[in-house]
Amino acid sequence: MAAARGRLSGYDTPAMTDQVVSLATPYRTHTCGQLRASDAGSTAKLSGWVHRRRDHGPLIFLDLRDRHGITQVVIDKADAPVAHDQASRVRPEFVVSVSGTVSPRLPATENTKLPTGAIELQATDLEILSDAKTPPFYINDPDAPVDELVRLKYRYLDIRREPMQRRLMLRSRMVQAIREVHHANGFVEIETPTLIKSTPEGARDFIVPSRLQPGTVYALPQSPQQLKQLLMIAGMDRYMQIARCYRDEDLRGDRQPEFTQLDLEMSFVDEAAVMAFVEAMTIEVSKATVPERPILQEPFPIFTYDEVLERFGSDKPDLRFGMELVDLGSVLVTSDGTPASGFAVFDSTLAAGGRVKAIVAPGMAGVTRREIDELTERARRLGAKGLAYLALEQGGEIKGPIAKFLDDDTKRAMIERCAADEGDLILIVADTAAVVADVLGRLRVELGDRLGLADPEVLAYVWIHRFPMYQWDAELERWHATHNPFSGVLPEDEALLVTASGEADRPSPDDPAGRARALQYDLALNGWELGGGSIRIHRRALLEQSLQLQGHSLDGMQEKFGAVLDAFEYGAPPHGGIALGIDRWVALLAQQTNIREVMAFPKTQSGSDPMLEAPSVPEPGQYDELGLRFVGSSKPETDKD
Ligand code: AMO
Ligand code: AMP
Repeated sequence: MAAARGRLSGYDTPAMTDQVVSLATPYRTHTCGQLRASDAGSTAKLSGWVHRRRDHGPLIFLDLRDRHGITQVVIDKADAPVAHDQASRVRPEFVVSVSGTVSPRLPATENTKLPTGAIELQATDLEILSDAKTPPFYINDPDAPVDELVRLKYRYLDIRREPMQRRLMLRSRMVQAIREVHHANGFVEIETPTLIKSTPEGARDFIVPSRLQPGTVYALPQSPQQLKQLLMIAGMDRYMQIARCYRDEDLRGDRQPEFTQLDLEMSFVDEAAVMAFVEAMTIEVSKATVPERPILQEPFPIFTYDEVLERFGSDKPDLRFGMELVDLGSVLVTSDGTPASGFAVFDSTLAAGGRVKAIVAPGMAGVTRREIDELTERARRLGAKGLAYLALEQGGEIKGPIAKFLDDDTKRAMIERCAADEGDLILIVADTAAVVADVLGRLRVELGDRLGLADPEVLAYVWIHRFPMYQWDAELERWHATHNPFSGVLPEDEALLVTASGEADRPSPDDPAGRARALQYDLALNGWELGGGSIRIHRRALLEQSLQLQGHSLDGMQEKFGAVLDAFEYGAPPHGGIALGIDRWVALLAQQTNIREVMAFPKTQSGSDPMLEAPSVPEPGQYDELGLRFVGSSKPETDKD
């Protein structure tokens, strides 16, 4: 097929149009976004949906739309009576094909908003290819508010609208760039199965009963983690996959039960090598997808986990604005370290080993009592016992209920420590280090949002590494991996992978293992966790030791992770990798706050698909075939998001 490198327009973006081939078929010579003034005088045939119809008696105007753009068609009764007759029957969303002559529009009637706006197609023939019922919402108005459940029920109509078209095309372009960069860098794309055995990543499994082996189930992968590690042992070196993953967990704006990862794994690498490749790839993909969006900092900043918690109160900090957490401890104690601020809450917190930290909300000194009450209530709901504040009013007065407890020197030292100016509001939380970080970290993001501190155009990628290997699970009384069970440990911390008692099956929160740091790295973007990965343990004995700390007996781990453990005995190369959430990545590049907006057919909050009406009751006989019986009944979830 001849590759006519014509420029398309309309919904297409420049990066796509550069590689467009002719889409001509018997139904069309051009797309609805293609014709220009230079085509005037030639004949053309277009097919598409009727975007709008304007009936002026003998003249009928149709705006014809496809995913490439919109072209105005004019049907003159005098020139084409049969076509005119057909055109008077069409309604919005009918599918029609029109042949005619491209003619320049009169200067006053040109539409500068449309790339095709200099011309119109003077129809000679018009064929109705499909009728259409009146759609449940306006397809030709991208701003029309539509209930999301209705959008999902009629997703094919929602996708026909411009915003979804743009986002899905952005996604397609991004996935194309991802593949190109990986192939150019020696990666092999390998598909791993989705009917497998559990690969835990911290969520519940979706399971699929086996008909051939009654009483047994497959699990859908939470990630291809074990399989990609086995591919490294198989010698595939650099592997990548656009992998579908399944996790049965509570849904949020950045979580779906079924989602897509860019999954990769590399052999003979250390942490720096994986991060260097992923960073270069991320930059290339961002530039190929949204060339107009600036990347805040290259190379990406790298923080340790301890440092981001200390400075931003989050392990996925939004670096588009400052408002860092400030430690006030040192200015609230006497020279010998005794807490002596005068405010009992601060003093007792510090005496008990807790922290007193603050954030400065610029220009917010004038907040109303009600706003402060709301902020305090928010802080309480996030787990704080209260929210103290100092408002630095214009003129130098310092207001706030705690001001009277603090002497002038202390107040001055606090303000200086915070580098706060007149007009600013200092918000303070006293509590354990974890509560202080979490509450102030979240308030930082919420206030940054409210004050418009984060530039929506900027892409602020940031690496976080040196996570703790394990977190103590007080309920199950065992350690669990902060990331995934196969993560490696910093070489200097390897000796810490033990319990205090010396017995693997008696873990306690005081175990040295709690201090071990993992060879794990996360990539965050604008306050979202975009991806996470690690250098893996590749020796059986060490993996067994780590899994024991995570509460697995030797038999239990053989049952769950036997394939990987056994494979480690046949020559396992040092290896590591990462997975990036593609849905999250596209959402951020498309400036969306919910990943549903960048998925063609996402699930609702209750995990259902209102269009296909899934999940559904099995067909008669399916339970029998699978040897299953439904015994319980549970109340269906509703879809109030
Ligand atoms: P992890 O569990 O951190 O790591 O997942 C990697 C990335 O996948 C995305 N993600 C999700 N996106 C949408 N909906 C969800 N429910 C969801 N869950 C996760 C996130 C996340 O950062 N096997 C490891 C990777 C590795 O170590 O190589 C893993 O799956 O963007
Ligand atoms: P109270 O002494 O309880 O009336 O609190 C005085 C002020 O200190 C109020 O504004 C409380 O919200 C605030 N406050 C109480 N506990 C804390 C805490 N742990 N951290 C920060 N502020 C607090």
